[in-house]
Amino acid sequence: MTTPLRLGIAGLGTVGVGVIKILHQKANLLAERTGRPIEIVAVSARSKGKDRGVSLDGYAWEDDPVALAKRDDIDVFVELMGGDSGPAKDATEAALASGKDVVTANKALLAHHGQNLAEIAEASNHVIRFEAAVAGGIPVIKALTEGLAGNDITRVMGVMNGTCNYILTRMENAGLTYEEAFAEADGLGYLEADPNLDVGGIDAGHKLALLAAIAYGTQPDFDAVELEGIGSITIEDIRQAADMGYKIKLLGVAQMTGRGLEQRMSPCLVPATSPLGQLEGGTNMVVLEGDHVGQIVLRGAGAGEGPTASAVLGDIMDIARGIRISTFGQPAAGLTKARAARAAIAAPYYLRMELHDKPGALAKIATQLGEAGISIDRMRQYGHNAGAAPVLIVTHKTTRNAVEDALKGFDRTGVVATKPVVIRIETVE
Ligand code: NAP
Ligand code: HSE
Repeated sequence: MTTPLRLGIAGLGTVGVGVIKILHQKANLLAERTGRPIEIVAVSARSKGKDRGVSLDGYAWEDDPVALAKRDDIDVFVELMGGDSGPAKDATEAALASGKDVVTANKALLAHHGQNLAEIAEASNHVIRFEAAVAGGIPVIKALTEGLAGNDITRVMGVMNGTCNYILTRMENAGLTYEEAFAEADGLGYLEADPNLDVGGIDAGHKLALLAAIAYGTQPDFDAVELEGIGSITIEDIRQAADMGYKIKLLGVAQMTGRGLEQRMSPCLVPATSPLGQLEGGTNMVVLEGDHVGQIVLRGAGAGEGPTASAVLGDIMDIARGIRISTFGQPAAGLTKARAARAAIAAPYYLRMELHDKPGALAKIATQLGEAGISIDRMRQYGHNAGAAPVLIVTHKTTRNAVEDALKGFDRTGVVATKPVVIRIETVE
């Protein structure tokens, strides 16, 4: 009789229930594929009496996830509670300390404590798997750690927060304001309990920090991610960008530069015809570029019961099969602490502002750009309103520092009526 793989699952919400459903529906298939039965032994959540729509018969119940993590009769602790500290961290540490492997969907926990947890796990030859933590159902962790392991990764990009992509798509397609699209996403239950995790770029920033660690052999460092949310994007920006052939996306980009590791999660313009530009609604997309493989585009559901549980099952099945890969694709002790390079890579920029309708106003702006060493690619002036003229400028490649210098110069001219909107244009094929 083959030894079963015994699970303890902490967290019986959207993802936890999804995992239990797959284990109920496909027990035989999973056993055939891995060569051993996969069994749930014990579960934990806050409220024991809650109807979760799945049978928990036959599973031991623990009120305390730490107690679950320490049980002698489980092999794998499956952490599906969430949160970057508190019970998720305590129980994960307890599981590793008592000799368990860990599967988690918790990007916040790993973005903040991944290095320490990986070192603890690897010191006792245990694994932490987290496919579901990044882009839900898309197997991007597997792609980076396994399929692309022979490449130097030159760039990692992604739209990794479905809620933000939904809001931006609805603004564009239905002409909604940011506030209207936000309220719609809220009504559909898309927003996290703290909406700033979504619209502030934090959730997607956590995911980017994890991908960057694998891609560049560095310690995950969420604090080094330059974060900017989508709250200041207006319908005007979306329309003007479309007019110039671009879409606005909350885009994560990680790239190793001569000055260190650049990690950005911010609204960017991407060509409307590119795969990222064509990504609609709540879907995620991750673009990986390697020196040998070229560009790989992965697209799929980044959240939801089925897709996220699918990723958790993939990790559990790897453990059942005896596949043991270091948390971030190489031994944690060897991960380097990367220097953070902020806005090191040159790019074209989109600038939108309103100018006072005076002779020479446009010339003064062009002069400031020239003095900051910035060359103009395209410039448009739209119909005047109340004595101000909306002006759109797309620059050639330049640095963020040069743009900041130009903005200071704009202030000195006295012709700029509104705070300029500045959005980076990511070069994407
Ligand atoms: P959820 O629906 O809010 O469920 C959380 C579960 O954790 C609940 O069952 C809750 O118990 C339990 N829990 C919370 N605090 C606890 C505590 N102190 N002790 C014991 N149990 C506790 O969350 P979710 O959407 O399933 O997300 C779970 C994890 O997956 C998070 O890390 C999240 O970021 C990640 N994730 C989610 C998705 C998604 O689409 N939902 C996608 C990717 C990753 P009660 O039910 O009794 O309240
Ligand atoms: N709130 C996330 C999103 C889902 O909107 O993509 C979980 O990562």
